[in-house]
Amino acid sequence: MGALINPSILSADFANLERDLAAIRGADYAHVDVMDNHFVPNLTLGLPVVERLVQVSPVPVDAHLMIEDPDRWAPAFAEAGAASVTFHAEAASAPVRLARELRRHGARAGLALRPATPVEPFLDLLGEIDMLLVMTVEPGFGGQSFIEGTLPKIRRARAAIDASGLDVWVQVDGGVSRSTIERIADAGATVFVAGSAVYGADDVAAEIDVLRSMADG
Ligand code: DX5
Ligand code: ZN
Repeated sequence: MGALINPSILSADFANLERDLAAIRGADYAHVDVMDNHFVPNLTLGLPVVERLVQVSPVPVDAHLMIEDPDRWAPAFAEAGAASVTFHAEAASAPVRLARELRRHGARAGLALRPATPVEPFLDLLGEIDMLLVMTVEPGFGGQSFIEGTLPKIRRARAAIDASGLDVWVQVDGGVSRSTIERIADAGATVFVAGSAVYGADDVAAEIDVLRSMADG
C-alpha cells in the first residue's frame, strides 16, 4: 500500500469547512479532530458537525476522538458514517469491546497513543484494530513541532505489526511536513495526518501530492 495523506481540518477555516474539504479531494481521508476540553485542553467540534462533514466531504472521514469515555461516545461517530474512528488507549475502559462495536458499525477501528504512552501493553489488541495512531505531538493543538523521540516507537509498532502478519495501518499525527515525513515513513508509518502543512500551503492540492510522493520515497 502506498502512503495515505489525511489532511487535518483543524487547520482549515471553520467558517468554510465545506469549501476546505473540497480543496482536499485529492487526499485519502479527511482527518477530523474531535476534542472535549477534558481529555485535551481544547474544544473543537462534535457529532452534529461530523454528521454533516461526512455528507459533504469528497473523501472518507477519519475521526480522531480526543475525548474522555470513548466507550460511550465513539460508536455514534461510526453510525454517523465516519469511515475510520480512532479513540485513545488512555481514555478507553474496554478497548476490545469498543473496537468490535466500531467495526460492527462498518467503521475501521483505530487506537491512538499519546507520545508518552508505550506501544507494548497494547500489542495484544492488534487483532482487534485496523489502525494504530502514534501521536507525534501532544494531542490538542495543530502547528506543533514533531517530537523526534516518537520515531523509535513507530519503528517498534511497525516491527510488531509485521511480525504479527496483521494488516494494521500505522498512522502518525502531529508535526508532519516536508521536513519530517521522509524520516517518519522510513520508521514505518504509512498514514500521515497533516494539518498546518497542508492547509498552510499556497497550493493545498499540490502539497498533498508532494507529501505523498516524499512518503513513498
Ligand atoms: C492535534 C491533532 C492533529 C493536528 C495536527 O492534537 O490531533 O490532527 O491537526 O496538526 P499539525 O499537522 O499542524 O501538527
Ligand atoms: Zn488528529
